[in-house]
Amino acid sequence: MSQERTYIMVKPDGVERGLVGKIISRFEQRGYKLAAIRLLKADQALLSQHYADLAEKPFFPRLMAYMTSGPVVGMVWEGKDAVRTGRTLLGETNPLNSAPGTIRGDFCIDVGKNLCHGSDSVENANKEIALWFPQGVCSYDRPSDRLIY
Ligand code: PPS
Repeated sequence: MSQERTYIMVKPDGVERGLVGKIISRFEQRGYKLAAIRLLKADQALLSQHYADLAEKPFFPRLMAYMTSGPVVGMVWEGKDAVRTGRTLLGETNPLNSAPGTIRGDFCIDVGKNLCHGSDSVENANKEIALWFPQGVCSYDRPSDRLIY
């Protein structure tokens, strides 16, 4: 069984709108295993590292203001194809291109308030998990995996 892990984050709009539980449910229902979870107000330093590749983008200041406007919920989800399928569960970056049934396709309409983040590669997932969970994640057996794999 693959133990691939991805970093999924509920952004401040998702926390404020009370959508954390619904987003967690999508991953649980699909069969993914929660390996870490943390509610925090991320500071500029942490977010600048997370979004380092976007520093030159015109929307970067707006993205920083948005992401520091309230707490986020960082999570690590584990399971088969977690990175790619995790992004499928989230939907497209621009919610207007997101199919109904995806998180963004069901709950938002603006790219500047797109509710959630998901790692875009295994390499970036490993970097993001180390950044947001420097204390490490939780490894445990889940007997119900026999019903999923
Ligand atoms: S890009 O330009 O192709 O690098 O951008 P993209 O890969 O589509 O998205 C990277 C992250 O930037 C966020 N984003 C935006 N935020 C605010 N305003 C605008 N216009 C905007 N466009 C893209 C997008 O949500 C991605 O963040 P994450 O956290 O990965 O979802």
